[in-house]
Amino acid sequence: MSTVSINGQPTRPVIHVEHLTKDYYLGATVVHALRGITLDVYPGEFVAVMGASGSGKSTFMNLIGCLDRPTSGIYLLDGINVADLGPDELALVRNRKVGFVFQGFNLLPRMTALGNVMLPMVYAGVPRERMEERARAALAAVGLEERAFHRPSEMSGGQQQRVAIARALVNGPSIILADEPTGNLDSRTSIEVMAILQQLNAHRITIVLVTHEPDIAAFCKRIVRFRDGRVIQDQVNPAPRSAAMALAELPPEDTEVMVT
Ligand SMILES: Nc1ncnc2c1ncn2[C@@H]1O[C@H](COP(=O)(O)OP(=O)(O)O)[C@@H](O)[C@H]1O
Ligand SMILES: [Mg+2]
Repeated sequence: MSTVSINGQPTRPVIHVEHLTKDYYLGATVVHALRGITLDVYPGEFVAVMGASGSGKSTFMNLIGCLDRPTSGIYLLDGINVADLGPDELALVRNRKVGFVFQGFNLLPRMTALGNVMLPMVYAGVPRERMEERARAALAAVGLEERAFHRPSEMSGGQQQRVAIARALVNGPSIILADEPTGNLDSRTSIEVMAILQQLNAHRITIVLVTHEPDIAAFCKRIVRFRDGRVIQDQVNPAPRSAAMALAELPPEDTEVMVT
């Protein structure tokens, strides 16, 4: 496995993937969703994964998030060969090391923001008295302290996605995986979400984000393109846009409508 040197310190990739393949079997047909992906993602990177619908982006995210297992190939998450883990160990590693953010927010509708953010800690066995404190800190990190007792239906789409980001953060993951997190949001709210992700990334959280929007990929530091289950391009973005600056340049008016 290769390492890069940051400030003279050798660094291990958070994600190390070699010749990863994934086949889906649908009756007699096989779908080759991934046809051999080789990729390293290092601590502190902010990677956009782009590509047409059906090119394997979500399949890739599910594999690196340990939600599914590859057909073949090697995957090391923080140096751990996940193929060696049984289902319980895998669930533990996933819960501790990976935070997920999805297009549809995936919040539990009957729980408050605080309750939703506390959930991953329930599975991780965090002592009860520490849970609320940590959930509140995660909500504060996304600017939503004052919404702790609101349910998802009482929040705007952008606020719901921020709760989902707080939930992704709460176990102190090595990496945040976001699959089209701005897909259901208007452009201003999308930039707000990107501003939060950039802020987290500035605090050294590694992020891999799927998007089909070039405007969103422009905020990322590296852009990887998929086609037909393969990486066809992998480029450093020499000048990522600042989402905070992009927000400052927008006209002030249209604040989001909220039900309270
Ligand atoms: N659970 C599944 N069962 C069968 N085929 C699937 C499944 N998930 C994805 N696929 C197929 O795998 C290919 C890649 O899908 P996906 O990873 O969702 O692509 P993307 O996220 O880039 O749109 C597509 O052809 C899709 O139809
Ligand atoms: Mg997808």
